[in-house]
This record gives sequence, structure tokens and C-alpha cells, in this order.
Amino acid sequence: MQLLDGKLISHQIKTEIALHVREKLLDAGLAAPHIAAVLVGEDPASQTYVAAKEKSCREVGFLSSVYRYPDNITEKQLLKVVDFLNNDPEIDGFIVQLPLPKHINEQKIIERINPVRDIDGFHPVNIGKMVLGLPCFLPATPFGIVTLLERGGVETAGKHCVVLGRSHIVGTPISILLSRKSTHGNATVTLCHSFTPDLTKYTREADILIVAMGKPDCITKEMVKPGAVVIDVGVHRVPSEETKSGYRLKGDVKFDEVSRVCSRITPVPGGVGPMTIVSLLQNALKASQKEIK
Ligand code: GUN
Repeated sequence: MQLLDGKLISHQIKTEIALHVREKLLDAGLAAPHIAAVLVGEDPASQTYVAAKEKSCREVGFLSSVYRYPDNITEKQLLKVVDFLNNDPEIDGFIVQLPLPKHINEQKIIERINPVRDIDGFHPVNIGKMVLGLPCFLPATPFGIVTLLERGGVETAGKHCVVLGRSHIVGTPISILLSRKSTHGNATVTLCHSFTPDLTKYTREADILIVAMGKPDCITKEMVKPGAVVIDVGVHRVPSEETKSGYRLKGDVKFDEVSRVCSRITPVPGGVGPMTIVSLLQNALKASQKEIK
């Protein structure tokens, strides 16, 4: 088994982006890309993600701003924040970190974002363009997965990809990207979800298994075809006495046993997570170059 090392590949891409920022933008007297994140409430996972995005921005020479609000912010007030960021001439693109508090309609907030600044690729205009194969912002996690497969030397054309989970953020878009007629597509895709009977029947058929179920340790070695490529999108905090923070991260896949039967696997942490962040940086660069209209 060989690791599909998201930490390494994301580092290579960040080095390329940093070089671009320095040589093509700053040295030419142009501004560095500037992105913003809106963070509502105190959700620890969201805070960690936003902090990681800020750190990555600094590393490549982007500017980043974080707009923090308490979780009692009203929907109307949050829509005003989105309007402000849609029009701020200093900003190239922005994200609203999800999940939002229950009293706020997430879809309404997403639909208010100007699609040319929607570097998360969640706006229906960007999703529609993705389905049609038109230039657009791709959602960061699926974009990160296809980049990881491509740069990791995993061919998708003609392969059977089985995707577990149909969320708007991961499962649905990755199934579309992998089946598209394009360089990192041309796969036959099966999308499984909570209504799929006998999951193992499908997972055992997968050349490439993409797991985005949101359930820790749910994929065992019996569910994986020997030699398959396994992409674990799950991130779960579990208590641990071995770390200073008192917790450690684990994925949806039982890494220790599945890594003995598959050919390639993404670790958690250090697999899909860093690829998601670097994809956001790639989208931010596109936004600053006004590539998406
Ligand atoms: N919450 C979990 N993943 C994401 C993401 O990629 N973008 C945003 N905005 N929120 C998230």
C-alpha cells in the first residue's frame, strides 16, 4: 500500500501558487489575491477550518480577512454581510463557513453570494456550470480529490468509482466530476446513500472508493476490493490520552485494516483536508484573475 499524500501534494501546489504570487503579481506591481471568510458562532471544527485557511493564505502570500459574528446574528444581518462582501472592491472572493445556526437558511445565504466571488463553488450558478463542464468555481473538497487523484497518478478513465454519501458539498459534486467527459473524469460512477441496501455489494466492486458518509470507522477491510484506491473524506474528533489537545482526528475508514488490502489510501489527517484548503486557494487565484465571469 502506498499513501495518497494530501499534505505533500498540497504543499507542492502551495509552492507553485506562492511563486506565481511573487513573480507574476507582486514583482509586476499587482495586488495579491485577497479573500474573506465569514465565521458565525463557536463551532470548534469551523474555527479550526477557518484558522487553517488563514494560515494557508499567509503561506502563499494572499491577504485574508475573517468576519466573526455571534451565533445569534439574524438571517437579515448575515445577508447584509454577504451584500457588503459582494461589493467590497478590496475582496476578490469569499466563503461563508458552514454549518450556520439553525435559525438561518443556509441556501438563502449561499444564493445571495455573487457567483463570481463564490470561491466555495456552492452557488447554484457554479453548480450548474460544473454539471455542464463550463468554467466555474469547483467546490473545494471534490476539486481537491480530483487533483489528488491526478497528481497522485491515479487514472480515473474507464474505472468504476463508488461514492458513499450524496451531500451537496462532497458526494453529489464528486460523482459529477468523476463521470464528466474530461481529463479527470470518464469514470463509471455509482453513488450510494442511506437508502442503498447491501452497501458492501457496491463497495467491493469499486476500483476507486470515495467515502463521505460522516460516520467514523464505518468502512472495514471486508468492504474493500483488494488493490482498490480509497479516498477517506471523513474527519472526526475522538478523545485521546496521547495528544496534548485531548483529541485526535480519524476518518470514515478503518485505516489500519483497510490499508492492508488497498493499493492507495488517503490518511486522516493529511489526506483530503489539506487538498480542500489548497483548492480554495486555487479558486481564489482564479477569482482575483477574473477568470470566472
Ligand atoms: N463546512 C465544511 N466544509 C466546508 C467548505 O468546504 N466550505 C464551507 N464554507 N463550509 C464548510
